[in-house]
Amino acid sequence: MKRGLFISIEGPDGSGKSTQIKLIKEFLNDIGMDAILTREPGGTVISEKIRQIILDKEHIEMDPMTEALLYAASRAQHVAEVIKPGLQSGKTVICDRFVDSSIAYQGYGRHLGDAVRIINEYAVAGCMPDITFLLKVDPSVGKDRIKEEEQDRLENEKLDFHNTVFKGYLELEEIYKDRIIGIDATKNIDEISNQIVSHINNILKVKD
Ligand code: TYD
Repeated sequence: MKRGLFISIEGPDGSGKSTQIKLIKEFLNDIGMDAILTREPGGTVISEKIRQIILDKEHIEMDPMTEALLYAASRAQHVAEVIKPGLQSGKTVICDRFVDSSIAYQGYGRHLGDAVRIINEYAVAGCMPDITFLLKVDPSVGKDRIKEEEQDRLENEKLDFHNTVFKGYLELEEIYKDRIIGIDATKNIDEISNQIVSHINNILKVKD
């Protein structure tokens, strides 16, 4: 059995990931591919519990390293329980955020640097996306798209934090040119979706 395609979607808060993920799933279903849609932090019972601890607005005292380790712990369970078995059974896995989120938010945003990449090497256990779409939108625009009362602990952070995260994403796009595809997320929904679908089509041709 051939390993399935692993797609991750990244971007600042409010970059429109959810809309695009739904469209990717529809496209894959239309061409007869079995796709699992999942998200981070979350995707398993244990990981969703860890998610609640991380994103709880009352946990203002959370140490940055605790935060990074919790995201990594949630990811380790997600990889072991959902992503790896899914890919091994030939399914396509679409993941809303993955390891690049940790590097951008905790590595850059929380200034933990390379420690985040290292702990996540253990968490992903060699299971990396084949392709990552980075939806690029200025963080001030992204933040405005989310109502204040609906913002979680991370979304609640100051614009400075989100700007540093975004800078991190842009550096990752440079470093991992072969994997990360930057998409202008200020374009309209159909234009963005067409661009994503055409990249997926290309990668499916190469994989065949
Ligand atoms: P979520 O509600 O899933 O936000 P979004 O819809 O924007 O993906 O919340 C996840 C938050 O956690 C988001 O602000 C990004 C942050 N995050 C990290 O800081 N590190 C990580 O490794 C992951 C996966 C998410």
